Amino acid sequence: MTALPKAELHVHLEGTLEPEDLARFARRNGLTLPWPTAGELRAAYSFTGLEDFLAVYFAGCRVLRTREDFHDLTAAYLRRAAGQGVRRAEMLFGPQVFLDHGVGLEAQLGGITDAIAEAREQSGIDGALLVSAHRHRREADALELLDLVRPWREHVLGVGLGGAERGNPPSKFARYFAAARAEGYRTTCHAGEEGPAAYIREALEVCRVERIDHGYTATDDPGLVARLADEQVTLTLCPLSNLRLHVTEDLAAYPLRALMDAGVPVTVNSDDPSYFGGYVNENYAAVTEALGLTGDEVEVLVRNSFTGSFAPPEEIRAARLSGA
Ligand code: ADE
Ligand code: ZN
Repeated sequence: MTALPKAELHVHLEGTLEPEDLARFARRNGLTLPWPTAGELRAAYSFTGLEDFLAVYFAGCRVLRTREDFHDLTAAYLRRAAGQGVRRAEMLFGPQVFLDHGVGLEAQLGGITDAIAEAREQSGIDGALLVSAHRHRREADALELLDLVRPWREHVLGVGLGGAERGNPPSKFARYFAAARAEGYRTTCHAGEEGPAAYIREALEVCRVERIDHGYTATDDPGLVARLADEQVTLTLCPLSNLRLHVTEDLAAYPLRALMDAGVPVTVNSDDPSYFGGYVNENYAAVTEALGLTGDEVEVLVRNSFTGSFAPPEEIRAARLSGA
């Protein structure tokens, strides 16, 4: 698996914060944590669902304060990803919570983009940044985020939408996605993780996004599955995340193969690897074992990861020609 070149399309930079680094950043920023050791913190990683997880995830975000923190976080993820055969990483990042803490975009995006450039030099990994708004906030906040990020336009490839899904349908953010599209951003939206298949439809029909993050509940709506296949909409599935957040209780019943067999371009991703017990290769391994995927099926998945990426078409073609 490590040897297979692949792209990762759904990973939150904040979700790559390993407990040891969380403790280190807290120390160097003079902050005290509710968890005295990294071991105790890791032991707290047992979640009843998405919102329960998000509370811990946002608590972790409190330790990220300086440009160096954002740089080191990104550098550590890209190093690990390159070590797992990831050639391209499209990383979601949500500035709103850090702005709330008084941390400016210069520190946030400056640190991240420096690390992306360095990693490209060091390992050749192609990192891209997707700015993500939180759906449990108002749409006006998401629109304001687009304004704030505008000076960074050349460093931001696309925009996404994450956060607490239930009760916050994609249609709440129709204007956000329309504005993002008008500015030339690529678009992706979390939908069908805890929310119904109707949210996936909304993301496509109302928000007109290009890609769906998760899309786990798509199989509840056969007409939607046919449409996803017909329009070749990439789903960024995250098996270990879905297991840890009780979206599914058993990966043996995971809909990945059913979606693949229906012709939907599905991909395998890590979401928040430090919280869910595995980076991208551990996700491939878990789903391969649970579903008994063949080598050919795994090859389809890695190919989908490149074709579903927001890389320029000629780069996608080149990645596929080089064996991916
Ligand atoms: N933000 C980080 N991880 C997330 C997830 N799994 N769903 C929604 N928002 C998120
Ligand atoms: Zn996610």
